[in-house]
Amino acid sequence: MSGGIDLDLCYSVVLELVKTAEELIRNGINSAKEVQHKSCEVDLVTETDQQVEKLLISGLRAKFPDHKFIGEESTADGQKNELTDAPTWIIDPVDGTMNFVHSFPHVCISIALLVNKVPEIGIITNPVLGQFFEARKGQGALLNGKKIQVSAVKDLSKALLSYEVGTSRDPEKMKVVLKNVNTLVPLAHGIRCLGSAALNMAMVAMGASDSYIEFGIHAWDIAAGDLIVREAGGVVIDPAGGEFDVMSRRCLCASSIELAKEIVTHIEQYYPGRD
Ligand code: IPD
Repeated sequence: MSGGIDLDLCYSVVLELVKTAEELIRNGINSAKEVQHKSCEVDLVTETDQQVEKLLISGLRAKFPDHKFIGEESTADGQKNELTDAPTWIIDPVDGTMNFVHSFPHVCISIALLVNKVPEIGIITNPVLGQFFEARKGQGALLNGKKIQVSAVKDLSKALLSYEVGTSRDPEKMKVVLKNVNTLVPLAHGIRCLGSAALNMAMVAMGASDSYIEFGIHAWDIAAGDLIVREAGGVVIDPAGGEFDVMSRRCLCASSIELAKEIVTHIEQYYPGRD
């Protein structure tokens, strides 16, 4: 229980709904899709994004009528986002929509439950590749039922980084993003763009990469990953070195605080409008 909330019940309800949602993604990824644009030409949405979000929110709302929701597609439809102390589900129905549209198999559903603004449950599931990441506060992080841990990497010179351009083509942001690529590539072991913020964080949690940095993501992209990375022994901070704020649209996670702080000293900052 947390703040009078039965977290075990919340967990079992969301797991049931996730099974149906995963089926929608598995069925949709290799089928023809109706694709629409949101904020710009490369910010996409499909009918599957909308169906999955509707399924999850209506199913959770039916069981927990007092809970609040922050969902990617509800926000695109004009719903105002506000993170309060109330139990709040933060949902990205398809993280990696561009990947989904191209049948590139790195797509996932990302779901977090926050109570008093503290993450209690995090789920990132890629039903195409069969990767189910989960964490409950204080109980560690799991991949397909087995405990996972971040890597032991502490030096940037030994680190594999994930970094994303994101879905904005704002010239000011592009300048910062590309400058950071120029700076980081010669300093690190390598750099990757998976096309899903949540899966980038899951890779850090399982020790497959050592850090992920992005400006311009939204709460639904990173809320579950925040808990999963920390429960796997990693750190999640603001890219300027301060405390992580899930609504700030800025994220740096890493296998260690030493690595995170080293990256902070090298990168240029970008401050998008808050969620
Ligand atoms: C996007 C992905 C992408 C990241 C963007 C996100 P969406 O989420 O996570 O990797 O670079 O910033 O918006 O639109 O596929 O849910």
